[in-house]
Amino acid sequence: MKTLIINGSPRANHGNTQLFIDHFQSGLTQPLPVRYVLRENPTTLALEMNDYDTILLAMPLYIHAMPGIVMKLFEAMNPHPTNHKKIGFIVQAGFIESSTARYLENYLSSLAHYLNYTYLGTVIKGDAAACSILPHFFFGKLFKQLKALGAEYEKNESFDPNFVEKLGNPVYLSKFQVRLLESCLVKKLDQIGWNWNLKRNGCFENRFDQPFL
Ligand SMILES: Cc1cc2nc3c(=O)[nH]c(=O)nc-3n(C[C@H](O)[C@H](O)[C@H](O)COP(=O)(O)O)c2cc1C
Repeated sequence: MKTLIINGSPRANHGNTQLFIDHFQSGLTQPLPVRYVLRENPTTLALEMNDYDTILLAMPLYIHAMPGIVMKLFEAMNPHPTNHKKIGFIVQAGFIESSTARYLENYLSSLAHYLNYTYLGTVIKGDAAACSILPHFFFGKLFKQLKALGAEYEKNESFDPNFVEKLGNPVYLSKFQVRLLESCLVKKLDQIGWNWNLKRNGCFENRFDQPFL
């Protein structure tokens, strides 16, 4: 059973998707090959994916959707003549609640069906934007769950529904969390991180530019 992991992040091996893949792999006895959509020609990669029995595609959520480079890869894939192939997805996102990735999840399950692959499901994890910024001990629980997900995958060639459920929590924000976030918005606390990043990248003064108008 040959599995290929695909990293669909525009930040390739420098982002949070890579951390997810690394911790998933830490649960395996044999590391799986990883390919980076960013560095590949989509048509060539789509062809080479046919050499594997199972594809695990990990990606970040960008604007409630998949990154454009992942879309290009999907457009290069053709339905497989046999239904012996499997595909599963890992989507990690910045917003806390996993329901924000639901539209993408629906798309991915339909895509698997269209491509004639058995759909292994989509693991969704929110609140992951700071994984590669904060010290790793902040994410100890998440990394353990990813390791266990990897170990279970190696045993059963599927995603353990227990871990899928745990990682997907919360599906929605509670009323209390919504109120807390709203009060942060009123006090403009949400801008602290953004402004810091804008200054760090030397574009703070241009933050209201509208180049396409
Ligand atoms: C351009 C862009 C758009 C994003 N859009 C969303 C979004 O719609 N919902 C969300 O929950 N997170 C969003 N995020 C946050 C990313 O999903 C999150 O930071 C993720 O961990 C990035 O993974 P990466 O480092 O592999 O790119 C966005 C990030 C970027 C850079």
